Amino acid sequence: MANDGTGRSVRFEQETLSRVVEQAEMTQNIPYHVAMIMDGNGRWAERQGLPRIRGHQVGVERVEEIISAAPEFGIKYLTLYAFSKENWRRPSHEVNFLMELLSTYLDCELATMKKNNIVFNTIGDLADLPKVIQEKIARNKKETGTNTGLVVTFAFSYSSRHEITQACRKIAGEVAEQKLRCEDISEQTISDHLYTAGLPDPDLLVRTSGEMRISNFLLWQISYAELYVTEKYWPEFNKEELAKAVESFQKRERRFGRTHAAEADPKTSPSFPGVKP
Ligand code: FPP
Repeated sequence: MANDGTGRSVRFEQETLSRVVEQAEMTQNIPYHVAMIMDGNGRWAERQGLPRIRGHQVGVERVEEIISAAPEFGIKYLTLYAFSKENWRRPSHEVNFLMELLSTYLDCELATMKKNNIVFNTIGDLADLPKVIQEKIARNKKETGTNTGLVVTFAFSYSSRHEITQACRKIAGEVAEQKLRCEDISEQTISDHLYTAGLPDPDLLVRTSGEMRISNFLLWQISYAELYVTEKYWPEFNKEELAKAVESFQKRERRFGRTHAAEADPKTSPSFPGVKP
């Protein structure tokens, strides 16, 4: 936990956390699904004269902290952009390091996920990953599959355009096989053919390191998500920063294209496919 030695940060965090949780209970204004673009590991490390890979290591510590803190804010789904399809173009030593880090993470965090009732889930083109990692992912999914708490979805080798293209192919195939009629294709049909089928759309999208970009992440799913961009680099994004993001969400008025929040009925909104907890 961040602390300047005087207890100030600890106090700040406790005060913010209690306020955010109290507000959430009063208004039920909770971002049930939070998606995160974890950017800035490299810059954080470079700024301190450290190798870029050190940023990824500290980034994993923040992943652990955010997963552990999320349920306290009422968050039920956390979706983390860990590795994009475009990230394969990075220097091979960095890609190899990230794969090693992922492999270790999958081994080390399994017990914690089981203990904390977390469901481990993934989206992305897993076939791109080394076989040993694919096996560890399958193991972790199986061993946490009956848990009932926070659903943590990692995006590995993920590209939203690729996901949508795949969905179009599957839907076209079903039409060709006469399992589906063209006129019956709805927005729900498309949602049901994405990697995220069965997950509610994100309520809040957080991006660290100040860049105002979506970077090919959940393009379909974030149609009505609230956006929160912080200048903090991902290795600095701790529980206190999560509290600030949730607090910012609580102050927003979500209208879903209507004129006033009071008229916005989440049940009939396109961003709530009826799987809200
Ligand atoms: C972006 O920072 C971050 C990534 C490409 C990887 C995100 C990965 C982690 C947070 C750790 C890995 C997670 C697991 C679960 C093993 P960047 O390198 O693009 O930073 P920069 O924009 O400053 O260069």
